[in-house]
Amino acid sequence: MKVLKMLVLRRASGFCPGKCRDLSRPCRVRDLSTTASRNTVMPAWVIDKYGANEVLRFTKNMIFPVICYPNEVIIKVHAASINPIDVNMRNGYGARALNMRRDPLIMKDIGQEFPLTLGRDVSGVVMECGLSVTYFKPGDQVWAAVPPWKQGTLSEFVVASANEVSHKPKSLSHTEAASLPYVALTAWSALSKVGGLNGKNCKGKRVLILGASGGIGTFATQLLKAWGAHVTAVCSGDASALVKKLGADDIIDYRSGNVEEQLKSLKLFDFVLDNVGGGTEDWAPKYLKKWSGATYVTLVTPFLLNIDQLGVADGMVQTGFTMGSKSLKHLCQGIHYRWAFFMASGVYLDDIAELVEAGKVRPVIEQTFPFSQVPQAFLKAEGGHARGKTVVNVV
Ligand SMILES: NC(=O)c1ccc[n+]([C@@H]2O[C@H](COP(=O)([O-])OP(=O)(O)OC[C@H]3O[C@@H](n4cnc5c(N)ncnc54)[C@H](OP(=O)(O)O)[C@@H]3O)[C@@H](O)[C@H]2O)c1
Repeated sequence: MKVLKMLVLRRASGFCPGKCRDLSRPCRVRDLSTTASRNTVMPAWVIDKYGANEVLRFTKNMIFPVICYPNEVIIKVHAASINPIDVNMRNGYGARALNMRRDPLIMKDIGQEFPLTLGRDVSGVVMECGLSVTYFKPGDQVWAAVPPWKQGTLSEFVVASANEVSHKPKSLSHTEAASLPYVALTAWSALSKVGGLNGKNCKGKRVLILGASGGIGTFATQLLKAWGAHVTAVCSGDASALVKKLGADDIIDYRSGNVEEQLKSLKLFDFVLDNVGGGTEDWAPKYLKKWSGATYVTLVTPFLLNIDQLGVADGMVQTGFTMGSKSLKHLCQGIHYRWAFFMASGVYLDDIAELVEAGKVRPVIEQTFPFSQVPQAFLKAEGGHARGKTVVNVV
């Protein structure tokens, strides 16, 4: 009932209150906000071209975000975090596909995507609401993950759709809260939306997680344990203690000896979550139970890369062909094969907040950086070997 009410409120906030009632086109900005925005510029880390870490530039004069649609909110960013996608986007990954989704107002006014702000996660305070936003009000403490085709959160303020935002768990500081949304929503999408797992059907299911020590792995391990699954985690030896503490039942150290040999001594699995990719696809599906609905879900897909390299039309065709043929091949072998993607959703964040408040999931932060050290935070993330998340305190 509560979820239904939230959905209705969120859905209702999607309509433009003006004459056009058309969300496919932005309305006149001044008509849409509950308060007048006074600032015109703000501090932010931006890039003006794609490349190595040197392209990150601090400016005090980034254009202040405006509410372009009646269901948007402006959030004062208290903390953000760095994900692998930020490092990849800095390098130009996904630019072709993401530019197609960018707001025409931004692309038209500026002529291109630059200056581009990276950063997907935000924990902060609502500063301003669009006229049809009913679920939030100025002063609310919120968290969100902003989709990669929007301006990011490594700035003093960010604009987000109310549908992407959720009330921050009260038990978490902004620093802690900023570590979760992007990885939590991606894991939720992979395990629940794509993989069909949930709190009601997971009890006793055997799940194998490849890459259990990073942002997604540390969240997925806790979520699956909260849902009652048996978790086997594959990670480096030095991450074993961390992953065990998060609840993993069995740990496989992929750096000490042959992973397949170690897996052969265990019972087969109902589900594999692959956060590593590359060669893992060649062997991991073998350890699933055949002809019993077992599922292999990977988060490492060639979707954006295909579009970058082949263009939109050929990239989509290539992607469809690859996914179709792999699904078919695995179906013939008795297992389901799926790709999963990050999904922005305030409603799912509400569910995740409940798990956090219940003490079933906690943030795993490896390192925190001040706003002045965003390039250092990128270098940390780029270095790999994450043990949880890298967070940036913006305030
Ligand atoms: N499809 C999507 O929408 C989507 C969304 C988010 C993320 N992703 C992708 O999902 C992957 C994981 O994301 P993340 O945020 O969790 O990354 P992350 O925080 O960088 O963590 C990756 C973890 O994997 C470990 N690792 C590396 N090689 C491994 C191996 N062979 N076996 C087991 N563990 C290994 C790393 O530690 P060690 O190297 O020390 O072992 C690290 O702890 C990334 O490739 C990311 O691009 C996709």
